[in-house]
Amino acid sequence: MVFYGGSTDGFFMVHTIFNAVKKRRLIVAHRGARSLAPENTLAAARLALAAGAAMWEIDVRLSRDGEPVLVHDFDLKRISDAQDKFPGRAPWLVDEFTLQELQTLDLGSWFGKADPFKQIAAGRVSPRELEKYCGEQVVTLTEAIRFTVENDWLLNIEIKDLAGRPGHESVVEKVIAVVRQAGASERVLVSSFNHYYLAQARKLDKEIRTGVLTERLEPDPAALMAELDAFTFNPSPRAFRPMQVRRLKKKGFGVLVWVLNNPVSAWACLAMGADGIFTDFPQRFS
Ligand code: G3P
Ligand code: MG
Repeated sequence: MVFYGGSTDGFFMVHTIFNAVKKRRLIVAHRGARSLAPENTLAAARLALAAGAAMWEIDVRLSRDGEPVLVHDFDLKRISDAQDKFPGRAPWLVDEFTLQELQTLDLGSWFGKADPFKQIAAGRVSPRELEKYCGEQVVTLTEAIRFTVENDWLLNIEIKDLAGRPGHESVVEKVIAVVRQAGASERVLVSSFNHYYLAQARKLDKEIRTGVLTERLEPDPAALMAELDAFTFNPSPRAFRPMQVRRLKKKGFGVLVWVLNNPVSAWACLAMGADGIFTDFPQRFS
């Protein structure tokens, strides 16, 4: 089923996760356009949007005071100046910092020093852009959704596995509450390697679609998808099997593969039935 909405000049297809996956050939900007800007920031989101990505992917953890924020690693060392600003707070775990503390951190300067995808060396990031990244602030989930909605865009929220950490029991509820508050249920795909989170998310909001992340070969992905009432199966290339994809497609599930930066491999996956791919280089697919 495809949802249509009315407009004065006829009918348009409503921008939802459901429609985007059904339309296929989805390019998802992994942590934003993270080859060109610091990952999980609004700068990376802007570049992904400009490159024509259909959706951006973000990683979500909870701050000490329970605010969903965009950080990939469990600690702040790689992507911030936490070690300089809070020298006595090793090992700088995200969930040991309040939102207010996180907001004092510079989440952009590391990018210029690390040049993680060698795009600065290649001359694809200008000195002016690099300068703008310095002082880039942590993004809350609320801000990420606001940016998505304002730009009539789509968002994949990956909830990091917080098993064994504070917030494990509450993270899904908190994320769903933020999504619902923004009225963005149909614009987000909630994914996780922790599949228990996905079942919880569907229980809390039936409008929210979920994506099953895996990097190991699943014996029966279709059965797993049915059990979790999920929408997309999101394997790494290693866990991608065309036979399984065909079966999943027959049952109406979507398939999104992560992370493919080489357009040849990406198009091959799409030709073998994937509905979309995640990439650090959305600009290569525009
Ligand atoms: O959602 C796909 C991908 O983001 C999963 O791995 O470690 O990059 O969050 P990671
Ligand atoms: Mg991720």
